[in-house]
Amino acid sequence: MTTPAENPLTERTRVVIVGAGPAGLLLSHLLDLEGVESVLVENRSPDYVLGRIRAGVLESSSVDLLTSVGLGERIAREGDEHRGIHLQWTHEGHGERHHLDFVDHVGRSVWIYGQTEVTKDLMAARERAGRAAYYEVADVALHDLETDRPSVTFTDAEGVSRRIEADAVAGCDGFHGPSRPAVPEGVRRTWERTYPYAWLGVLADVAPSTDELIYAWHPDGFALHSMRSATVSRLYLQVPPDEDVAQWSDARIWEALATRLGHGQDGWTLQQGPITEKSVLPMRSFVATPMRHGRLFLAGDAAHIVPPTGAKGLNLAIADVTLLARALTAWLVDGSPALADSYSDDALRRVWRCTHFSWWMTSMLHTTGDPFDEQLQLSQLRWVTSSQAGAAGLAENYAGLPIGF
Ligand code: FAD
Ligand code: DHB
Repeated sequence: MTTPAENPLTERTRVVIVGAGPAGLLLSHLLDLEGVESVLVENRSPDYVLGRIRAGVLESSSVDLLTSVGLGERIAREGDEHRGIHLQWTHEGHGERHHLDFVDHVGRSVWIYGQTEVTKDLMAARERAGRAAYYEVADVALHDLETDRPSVTFTDAEGVSRRIEADAVAGCDGFHGPSRPAVPEGVRRTWERTYPYAWLGVLADVAPSTDELIYAWHPDGFALHSMRSATVSRLYLQVPPDEDVAQWSDARIWEALATRLGHGQDGWTLQQGPITEKSVLPMRSFVATPMRHGRLFLAGDAAHIVPPTGAKGLNLAIADVTLLARALTAWLVDGSPALADSYSDDALRRVWRCTHFSWWMTSMLHTTGDPFDEQLQLSQLRWVTSSQAGAAGLAENYAGLPIGF
């Protein structure tokens, strides 16, 4: 069945949410708990959204938030709580590995629980609650954002043209979605930094060779040993930007990881196993302001991107929608617009803190080929692993500041 685009089927809700990634799904859950109806509009299929291998580390405030809204059960059962990270460097043939204990320094931990698992829990909650969602839509467009009757139009999976009118539109559609460009150019301002390197990320069916994550500085480039479960490791290597993944055979990947992570040093060994996924991730910092325009509210990657070092992307998306749900509830249920009016400024305080921290971790750990940079990086690594103040600063940012700080 096809409905002419000029006469779409129209429905009404309180909040129309564009994008059903973690930001959009969590926002719909939080609004539902406050009795605020929403409809999700997503251009991919549920399986595609679930199949994306992305973040793996949750800050304690993200875990606390998810637990407080009924989504903590599987995290507690299947997630893995980490007290801190290992930081290491290898220089002139000498390697040092130090454990930095976040709990000792700031009283907070982090959890290993993949973004795919968070998404699975959120999708299950949506289905249980029977909340409306349109998947595999096309031609998504936002309208009348500066009026009190904004709407979103799209073609649904059956080819039907639809319009959803709402009190507010939440742009949770990631970096490439249509929401951010819907803020007029004269209003929108952007800040951006691209880095002269990328990450090659692999997933391997092998038990992690470490209890907690290892961030490694090495003259050949950065390496990170992370994990997804007791049987699955997640590993990353610094590579040139736009590197062709075909240049990296499994054997070359394991050899580079062994060298950079210090296989054989002080009796530590890197276990190898079948690689099940490989991809190159670009590294970018990006912030768009304001995060509100008229009745459009941006959240998550739609408004900002951080480089992955420090694992902030998913946590920032969770923090944004927590603030946004409070703001929309106060406005739409209690008639109090103050939090909606301050949403952009409130969210951006944390965005800039995480933007700085991700840039700082990235700059400390990735080799540039410049000998001056190298000395500064080694000095900084020695400082954060030997000074209480240095370690506490890293720990406070990594384990995450309270939402709404
Ligand atoms: P997204 O997860 O991007 O969700 C946006 C949703 O909007 C998607 O489902 C998309 O399909 C949908 N959408 C897009 N266009 C439209 C449209 N036209 N209409 C309707 N829907 C649309 N962060 C970390 O902390 N650690 C990591 O290791 C890490 N690794 C990453 C690896 C990759 C390859 C990428 C891309 C990101 C990674 N991130 C990582 C970042 C983290 O995954 C994101 O910050 C997080 O997904 C943000 O959630 P979001 O819901 O805002 O955006
Ligand atoms: C992971 C990704 C990160 O960027 C990071 O800093 C730590 C862990 C991960 O994918 O597991």
